[in-house]
Amino acid sequence: MTLATRLVRRLAAIEVSVANPEDTAEFLRDALDFDVRIGMAGRRDLTAEGDYGVGVPDRMLSLSEGTDLAVEELTFDVDAPDMLDEIATGAAARGLEVRRGEPGDGETALTFVDPWGLPVRCRLPVAPRDAPLDPSDVRPRRLGHVNLKVPEPAAAAAFYCDVLGLRLTEQLGDRLFFLRVAADHHNLAFRPANETNVHHIAFEVAGWDNFRVICDHMAARGHQIEYGPGRHAPGHQLFIYVTDPISRLRVEVFADMARIDDEAGYQPIRREIDRVRSLNVWGPAPPPSFLE
Ligand SMILES: [Fe+2]
Repeated sequence: MTLATRLVRRLAAIEVSVANPEDTAEFLRDALDFDVRIGMAGRRDLTAEGDYGVGVPDRMLSLSEGTDLAVEELTFDVDAPDMLDEIATGAAARGLEVRRGEPGDGETALTFVDPWGLPVRCRLPVAPRDAPLDPSDVRPRRLGHVNLKVPEPAAAAAFYCDVLGLRLTEQLGDRLFFLRVAADHHNLAFRPANETNVHHIAFEVAGWDNFRVICDHMAARGHQIEYGPGRHAPGHQLFIYVTDPISRLRVEVFADMARIDDEAGYQPIRREIDRVRSLNVWGPAPPPSFLE
C-alpha cells in the first residue's frame, strides 16, 4: 500500500439512520450524557467536548430517520481547499461522481459515494460552538473512530489510503484493517460482512477511572454494557461497548489507545487473527451479538 499525501485532518462526524432518532438520541444522552440538538430535517446531532483546543464541534454523531440502521455519511475535515481538489481528483479518477458545494449546507465541502456505497463528505472545518458544555463525568470527549462492515475490507482500506491519504496502521489477517489519520492508532477500521454498515462508533474518555463512573452511571439508569471492560490487541485500547437496545447502534467507549508518533519510521503491523486474544487480551469473549 502506498503512503499517500495526508489529505484529511480528522474524522469529524458520522451520520447514521435509525428507525427512531429521538429514542436513540435519548438513550445515548441518558447513558453517556451526549449533548443532543435537533438539526436539519429532524436529525438529532450529538456532540461532546471535542479535540483539545478545537472547541465543541457542531456535531460528532448525527441520527436521521430510516427504516433500519445504516450509514448515511462519513465526514472528514481537511485543512485547505487544494486538499479538497486533490481528493476530488482521486475520487473522480476511480470513476466516482464528486459533488461540490451543495447549496444551503453552509459548508465548503465535496461529497462522493465510495465503491461500497458509503457516502463520504470532506469539508473545511466548521466553526465550533461558542460555549463549552457543562462538565460531565460520564460524557466522552471526542469521536475517535468508526468501525465499518464492508464486503471487501482490503480493497476499502486501500481506497481510503489512496484517496484520502489515510495510513494503514495494522491488519488482522486479510479481514480487519485499521487506518489512521494522524497519531491515533486508528480512526477508521474495516471488517468483512455481506453488506456495508456500521459495526460501532468509538468515543474517547480520559482514562480507566472514567469506566467505573460510566458503568455505575449506566447501571443506575437501568442500562447494561454489551461487552467489556477489556483491552483490544490492535490499538491496545481499553474498551466497553454500549448498544442501543432498539436500534442496535453500538458505541465503543475507549481510552489509552496506542499512538503512532514516529510517522517516518513506522511500519504497518500484520497479525493473524486469534479469535479470543485479538478482541480482548484479558480473555473474556464477546457475546454473539457483537460478532454479527
Ligand atoms: Fe473500535
